[in-house]
Amino acid sequence: MSDTHSGVFYITTPIYYVNDRPHIGHGYCTILADVLARFHRLFGQETYFLTGTDEHGQKVQEAAVKRGMSSQAHVDDMHRHFRDLWPTLHVSNDDFIRTTEPRHVRVVQHALQLLWDRGLIYRGEYEGFYSPRVEKFFAADELVDGKCPETGGEVHQIKESNYFFRMSQYRDALVAHIHAHPDFIRPESRRNEVLGFLKQPLQDLCISRPKARLEWGIPLPFDPDYVTYVWFDALLNYCTAAGLYLDDERFAHLWCGVHHLIGKDILTTHSVYWTTMLMALELPLPRHIIAHGWWLVDRTKMSKSLGNVVDPLAMKDKYGVDSLRYFLMREMVVGLDADFTEEAFLKRHNFDLANDLGNLANRLAKFVQRSMGGVVPAPGEGSGTPHDDDLRAMATGLPARVRELVEDLRIEAAVEAVMNLVRRINRYVAETEPFKVIKTDPAHAAGAVYHALEGLRFALNLLAPIMPGKCSELLAAIGAPPPVTSLDALRWGDLPAGAAVTLQDAPFPRHEVPTFQAADPGAAPAPARKPGKAGAAAREAGPSGAPGPADATPAPMGVAQAGVASGDPSAAPAKVTYDHFAALDLRVGTVLAAEAVAKSDKLLRLDVDLGEARPRQVVAGIAKAYAPADLVGRQFLFVANLEPRKVFGLLSEAMVLAGHDDDGLAAFSPLRPLPAGAKAS
Ligand code: MSP
Repeated sequence: MSDTHSGVFYITTPIYYVNDRPHIGHGYCTILADVLARFHRLFGQETYFLTGTDEHGQKVQEAAVKRGMSSQAHVDDMHRHFRDLWPTLHVSNDDFIRTTEPRHVRVVQHALQLLWDRGLIYRGEYEGFYSPRVEKFFAADELVDGKCPETGGEVHQIKESNYFFRMSQYRDALVAHIHAHPDFIRPESRRNEVLGFLKQPLQDLCISRPKARLEWGIPLPFDPDYVTYVWFDALLNYCTAAGLYLDDERFAHLWCGVHHLIGKDILTTHSVYWTTMLMALELPLPRHIIAHGWWLVDRTKMSKSLGNVVDPLAMKDKYGVDSLRYFLMREMVVGLDADFTEEAFLKRHNFDLANDLGNLANRLAKFVQRSMGGVVPAPGEGSGTPHDDDLRAMATGLPARVRELVEDLRIEAAVEAVMNLVRRINRYVAETEPFKVIKTDPAHAAGAVYHALEGLRFALNLLAPIMPGKCSELLAAIGAPPPVTSLDALRWGDLPAGAAVTLQDAPFPRHEVPTFQAADPGAAPAPARKPGKAGAAAREAGPSGAPGPADATPAPMGVAQAGVASGDPSAAPAKVTYDHFAALDLRVGTVLAAEAVAKSDKLLRLDVDLGEARPRQVVAGIAKAYAPADLVGRQFLFVANLEPRKVFGLLSEAMVLAGHDDDGLAAFSPLRPLPAGAKAS
């Protein structure tokens, strides 16, 4: 995001549906946006941070009906669970938008009227299947086993007259924009997913619902019998808050720096629906669309009998908001999935915060209070060792490094870089031994303590966007000025000698880590998962789980299996000509990244180098045989010219070849490494 160096940084979160209460996924996305906003403020950029609630649509109407309330009363009640949560998580949003607010209704109706007047909306017949869970329509051939391809949930067949937005005509312009702006959609794997999606013809978008079927929405300005499709309404929130059609100057000012932070499941709506809507409205596209991964809670590892069922937001009340924010930012690589377990959370808390950071602050403070009159000592000549320069160089070089990492969305790496400074200060204290020499060489001891405290002040200032509450408290408690408001103001030597060091209690008390897996070693996360039972992978895809000839049952998604003969020669595949075989593009691919697919215990998502300009995304049913970490760097055989296919909402662009026997799957690998993309024949 090198273009964020100047100008406004306008960051948005998705607006959350008010059909349910907030969970850790909402918390993560909003805290990540907050962390980015706080960092960009520190970088000296004008920052505007928006979040809010998505209050129309079928899901919300159904939730209201279930509660026996009017939709309005329901949303008025439910939106508070979000709005009131954010301050408790130290989220510093500048605005909170509700799509039922008059300011937003006005913008949506104005935009619709514009598109209608320009002939970019037309009336037509719609026939398809509606998935209320994702509020999206699907064609019959997009369904998987008659269910929603994205969630596996129920769909309703619908045939009705509706209004359509001419989305199809913007496909080429959108593809060109994505090519011209390589970091428009981040991370790269998501950009490739969108480009893959755009290889198929783009349909026009149905943007209305007849009031007879759905009342809860913004009425179309040109036909009062219809309300607006919830996504068309919701996406415009980003413009409403910036002042579209109300304050042109403000809108233009903010809009040139807009960044949308979203979860990977709402990539298409943002990268395709939203961008084409903006094109039609003749508005600039956002700077970046940043898609993060999902927090998974491995259900097999949670059970009441083990006592480890975790309500992630309850963590905040139990362990503190700062620890929660630290864990979420340190543990997840933006763009990839991560597992939320209380065990991992407590380990991070204990190792990083209680041990490395908390102990350091506590030991220094206690020493100052005991032996230095309770005030920051004068730096003097320092400790008189070369370690002073080393520590100072590391601390003063860190703001620029952190900025670089944050701008590259490597938040976990930025946190780690600061924690490395904290660890360096701990080593510095061991090297200079102020506690030992206080009697014999008080000047040396004072200099060393000053350096250590000053290093700590740097670390706390750089961690402040992650843990604003604790870092402010700790800075005050070690006699430092309040957190700087600009990184340029973070200068070595600004810790005032003579300031009172008041820290009393350990800032991050340690927590006992329960032995979650002790009672059930089988549930422990194994580096390589146990292969599935006899033919399991093949049978799972078969009807009612009945075992049958391997080649008669469909293969799991993204994997072609060379089946062991079933013993039934009549089930053997028909002979093919050499030409048929030669038509297959079989190639060696190197796995660059691998991760679990949410809500599926069979699928892994792989980024695979097939020797092309960009890696391909492959969704493969091999999760029972391999842990993601074991695949990275390995080579396998792929069918590279299968029609791309959407699996669990992810585009799979090739198929990995695997054999199977009673122990499960084994993917085919070359006996020696080959260049990625090497042809197999
Ligand atoms: N209302 C739409 C967004 C409209 S934006 C114009 C919506 N709302 S949502 O409440 O269902 O989800 C909001 C966000 O929460 C999505 O970005 C989604 O990715 C995120 N998460 C939901 N579950 C999640 C996890 N388990 N982990 C991380 N984030 C996930 O979609």
